[in-house]
Amino acid sequence: MSTLFSPTCIRGCEFRNRIVMPPMATSLATRDGLAVREILDHYAERAGADVGTVIVEHTYVTRSGRVNDRQLGAHTDSAIAGLSELAGTIEECGARPVIQLTHAGASGAGDEQGTVFGAGSVPRPGKEDVTPRPLTVEEMQYLAERFAWSAAQCIEAGFAGVQLHGAHGYLLNQFLSPLTNDRRDSYGGDLEARGRYPLEVVELVREAIGEDALLYYRLGADDLMCGGLTVEETAPFAARLAGAGVDVVDISGGMGGYRPEETREGHFLPLNRAIRDHVGDEVPLILTGGIVNPETAEQLLRDPAVDFVGIGRALLSDPHWATRARGQVGR
Ligand SMILES: Cc1cc2nc3c(=O)[nH]c(=O)nc-3n(C[C@H](O)[C@H](O)[C@H](O)COP(=O)(O)O)c2cc1C
Repeated sequence: MSTLFSPTCIRGCEFRNRIVMPPMATSLATRDGLAVREILDHYAERAGADVGTVIVEHTYVTRSGRVNDRQLGAHTDSAIAGLSELAGTIEECGARPVIQLTHAGASGAGDEQGTVFGAGSVPRPGKEDVTPRPLTVEEMQYLAERFAWSAAQCIEAGFAGVQLHGAHGYLLNQFLSPLTNDRRDSYGGDLEARGRYPLEVVELVREAIGEDALLYYRLGADDLMCGGLTVEETAPFAARLAGAGVDVVDISGGMGGYRPEETREGHFLPLNRAIRDHVGDEVPLILTGGIVNPETAEQLLRDPAVDFVGIGRALLSDPHWATRARGQVGR
């Protein structure tokens, strides 16, 4: 019996298998952040070819948090209408639609005046040319409410779940990381303080989406940089995420982007294992990174620290990767 193709259920939501298409930016949206036919077709092709969960690419909750002009948004009623069509398309193909919500903070475009703000006043590693202004507590509250609004609208629009982007040097990662959070108020300092804002966002989003919807968190479990976050801090933090209402932890890493140097298949497995030790067996974990062979995916899923596998670039280059995998590793 194949583990890769074994169904599972979280909070009453059924998944036909363990294959996840992780969030991957297409940069094909209109300049207003609206979904276009090309985006619908891109996801339908993969969802219709045996993928179990599609996590739609990073989608901003307010325009100041976008990283480019062709990024998807979940910030207005018209953007939500397009996302509703996208969710329906994925669901009709038999995959569960989840959408990644984000604010890029110091990695983003900034406000109308071009002011870029982040967790602290430190440029994000890899983007040293931009020195952000630290968010005020009122601005943080406003952004948390934007996350909650977008999340509730996406669930209403037909998504089974939302994923908060807490990796790759974006806003929630900026708060958690000692590399970017130099705040001197109650949101900066030790792990407890640095984790406070991401946890507040999680709690507000959980309240907004209700008990039936799924809440995923993409955790930057290791900044992969000297002086940055390591799993020693992020593993206990993952347990707090679960306590605050997160259903699934999607493990990633790297402060300055989404492509760590490491290309070994399943290279984040040690992070999954450390996090499993802290969150226990009840919280499903996704392992993503470098996986290309169905047999390796199957093997990785036998590890108690892996419940789902994310297949990124392999699904971009071969939309029928999962169907091919079914032929190889069977049912
Ligand atoms: C073109 C491209 C776009 C990506 N966009 C996102 C994104 O929007 N959000 C995110 O969390 N990760 C993003 N990633 C990272 C992937 O989700 C994934 O973690 C990474 O590609 C490693 O998995 P892989 O080796 O299977 O490709 C992107 C990766 C690629 C290649």
